[in-house]
Amino acid sequence: MEIYIGSDHAGYKLKQAVKKHLEKRDVKIIDLGSFNGEESVDYPDIAREVVEKVLEYPGTFGIMICGTGQGSAMMANRHKGIRAALCTNEYLAEMARKHNHANMLCLGERNTEEDLALKIVDKFLDTPIDTDERHKRRVAKLDV
Ligand code: RB5
Repeated sequence: MEIYIGSDHAGYKLKQAVKKHLEKRDVKIIDLGSFNGEESVDYPDIAREVVEKVLEYPGTFGIMICGTGQGSAMMANRHKGIRAALCTNEYLAEMARKHNHANMLCLGERNTEEDLALKIVDKFLDTPIDTDERHKRRVAKLDV
C-alpha cells in the first residue's frame, strides 16, 4: 500500500502523528509537505501535490490534513478521479470507503483529537470498497 500524505501548517502536527502511527504498518508513506509547521502555507497547493500523485498512481491513497480538512476536501474533489472524504468519525471513514470508494482522506487537526484521527485513518485504510453493482454505478456517476 502506498500513501501520499500532505498538510498545511495547521495540519502539520497531526500529520506527524499519522506518519508515526503508519510506521507500524506495511505501507510506503510519501510526505509531500509541508515540512515545517511554523511557516504558513496554502492548503490548496499541498492538496494539489497529493491529488496529482494519487491520479498518477491508481490504487494509491491520499491523506491531506489542514485545520478543518474542509478546504483540502474541496480542492481535491474538483479533480476527476479523486474521491476525497472529510471524516470526523470512524463511521464516515468506513462508509466513504464502502459506498463512495474514497481514495483520499481529509482530516482536520483543529476539530479532530489525535487519538480519534488515528482510528479514522485505520478504519479508512482497513475498509475495502463494496463492489456491489449499485455502488459501482453510483461512484461512476460522480465523474460525469
Ligand atoms: C488555515 O488557517 C486553515 O484555513 C486551513 O488549514 C483549513 O482549515 C482550510 O480549510
